[in-house]
Amino acid sequence: MSGFSIDWLDLREAADRRARNETLRDQAIEWTDAGDNPVVVDLGAGTGSTLRALTAPDQQPLTWCLVDNDAALLDEAERRHGETHRIEPCKADLASLTSLPLEGARLITASALFDLVSEDFLGALATELKAQSQRYPVGLYAALNYDGTTRWTPHHPLDDTVLEAFNQDQRKDKGFGPALGPDSGAVMLRLFTQAGFRVYSASSPWVLDGADQAMVTELITGIAGAVADNPDIEASALEEWVQFRLSNVSTGTCTVGHTDVLALPF
Ligand SMILES: C[S@@+](CC[C@H](N)C(=O)[O-])C[C@H]1O[C@@H](n2cnc3c(N)ncnc32)[C@H](O)[C@@H]1O
Repeated sequence: MSGFSIDWLDLREAADRRARNETLRDQAIEWTDAGDNPVVVDLGAGTGSTLRALTAPDQQPLTWCLVDNDAALLDEAERRHGETHRIEPCKADLASLTSLPLEGARLITASALFDLVSEDFLGALATELKAQSQRYPVGLYAALNYDGTTRWTPHHPLDDTVLEAFNQDQRKDKGFGPALGPDSGAVMLRLFTQAGFRVYSASSPWVLDGADQAMVTELITGIAGAVADNPDIEASALEEWVQFRLSNVSTGTCTVGHTDVLALPF
């Protein structure tokens, strides 16, 4: 399963849904409902999981502009929602911020995205949304930003070493300059506060157990792949860690920390 395949996004969606902080999600929905420009721009939309999470009964009809650089994911989002929602797919590279269709939106959303981006990207986004808010108030709802914590039961002696190596990998350039990885939530809080937004943040961990074993199995192999080249971990030790983790997927637990952030203009 590749990084952003439909299968992987589907596999994680139930855990994402449980993890999202409900208060911030409801606040984001209320903010959108209170505006007279019902347009949401979802950055790194994938197959539309944010649309699904933010669709509520009795909501005013929204136009969802789904931005992604993966045409197959956008096609899938349109296939799933084209008949029930107003969808405007937009194939674009997010790194080119000035080319994105942000103008006139009530809310910009993202999920599982901003740990991939750089501080420069977030700073430019905060500045852009602040400028746009002088014309139309626009908010940002960014869910599920990885916070660098992962706890397993049962414990294995290599857990901390693997986590440290994984967090190093999370900071590598993902197309936006050095990635914020575990710092994304805190940096968002700082940059959007400095730009003059009211910023709310809340923890939104994946809490996984035997019921999520298919997802946890993918997670384990994904983590192992990400740290395989790290010189601090011997291949045989990593293999032993993987086998231990896989042998515990049905009875063990895994908690992966995230932060949700909502930034609204004053
Ligand atoms: C972890 S996935 C999250 C997808 C979706 N938001 C969700 O929560 O299921 C990250 C998404 O960002 C998109 N993405 C990553 N880098 C991008 C870039 N430079 N330009 C546009 N989209 C990008 C990927 O194609 C993928 O759909």
